[in-house]
Amino acid sequence: MPLNKEYDVIIIGAGAAGMMCAIESGKRGRRTALIDHAKKPGEKIRISGGGRCNFTNLHCAPTAYLSQNKHFCKSALRQYTQYDFIRMVERYNIPYHEKTLGQLFCDRSAKDIIQMLLDECEEHGVELFLETSVKTLESISDSEGYTLMTTKGPTACQSIVLATGALSIPKMGATGFAYDVARKYGHTIVDTRAGLVPFTFEGEHLSACKALAGVALDCQASFGKQDFNEAMLFTHRGLSGPAVLQISSYWDAAGAVTFDLLPGQDVFALLQTARKKQPRTNIENIMKTYIPTRLAEQICADLDFTGLNIADLSDEKLKALATRLNKWRVIPDGTEGYRTAEVTVGGINTDEISSKTMESRLQKGLYFIGECVDVTGWLGGYNFQWAWSSGFVAGQYV
Ligand code: FDA
Repeated sequence: MPLNKEYDVIIIGAGAAGMMCAIESGKRGRRTALIDHAKKPGEKIRISGGGRCNFTNLHCAPTAYLSQNKHFCKSALRQYTQYDFIRMVERYNIPYHEKTLGQLFCDRSAKDIIQMLLDECEEHGVELFLETSVKTLESISDSEGYTLMTTKGPTACQSIVLATGALSIPKMGATGFAYDVARKYGHTIVDTRAGLVPFTFEGEHLSACKALAGVALDCQASFGKQDFNEAMLFTHRGLSGPAVLQISSYWDAAGAVTFDLLPGQDVFALLQTARKKQPRTNIENIMKTYIPTRLAEQICADLDFTGLNIADLSDEKLKALATRLNKWRVIPDGTEGYRTAEVTVGGINTDEISSKTMESRLQKGLYFIGECVDVTGWLGGYNFQWAWSSGFVAGQYV
């Protein structure tokens, strides 16, 4: 089906943010077209949360977002909250559950969320154009809107919304299209990098991770002033697991990340007590009661403690062991990059966007929503909530 000549609103990108914006625009009676170059809408929703879509978080709050302007996300998150989205999910009788830490997942499948959004689009008269790319996008003049040349023909609109996401998972059709359009209209882009992504290592550190691949434990991961108490996982490439993904979004690609492998416990005091109470016990066996066996063995080997009883270890040695457990500092060689990153940190500078409407401050009728904007959430449903909230807000004003 070719595009009509004219719409009030054209939204580019039928992902989470784009569909939400289209629904709200349609509800207001705006003639709305939703365009995507992919074969299907909402592909990232489909693969999210291991196929069950962690669609929001009960504890959603501005503090769970990274941005050069930490206040920017507040307005949208207030205008459309996690409870608003939960209400829609309940209206559609989609079964869901809280997995952990306020994270809400579908009981059945992420497809339930996609179908709900598509049903809403249909109900509100949104016209969906898949396998459609935009070849050119020009503003007519300040008040008259935009003309577009697409692979389904020419079209025009009053308001144009960029909801094309960001750079993570290029295999799934991620593009920097929103950044290109933003730059064209004078916007600046806050440097982008892969976020919510595993750390990679080389050389000795990589060999150590490989030897421990599959070992998981609870930890506190810290970088700068930020820390997360969640699980970490050793892999064949390096470190992963929720704590690692979370802290990766804050990592500046140079400094050391600190892991407390026994969070909340003073390991030195603990070892001193053990030395008094059970001096003839093998140090590895003592450690195995606190951390996974393979990790205990490797740490003892690293420190040349293998085969020793705890009584053989001086305070200095116990301190070295305690530091290894409470303050393990590692400098990753890199991350797995956009190939596996769940999100892109950075993006279109929020200084040049209205937080209340998501409209460009530089170009009338131009809107940016979702992941392309310099707002990145923690792991746990926060990124979809940003997509819903920013999409909803733009939908009220387009
Ligand atoms: P999104 O990427 O969803 O949509 C952009 C759309 O634009 C796509 O449909 C794309 O095809 C289209 N597009 C791109 N370029 C285009 C162009 N040039 N022309 C036309 N169309 C174009 N978050 C969360 O909160 N809970 C979770 O469980 C997960 N899980 C998860 C798993 C994995 C593997 C990934 C990669 C990511 C997550 N996320 C997540 C993050 C979440 O998926 C992400 O934050 C949102 O999808 C962002 O929504 P947007 O609508 O901004 O972009």
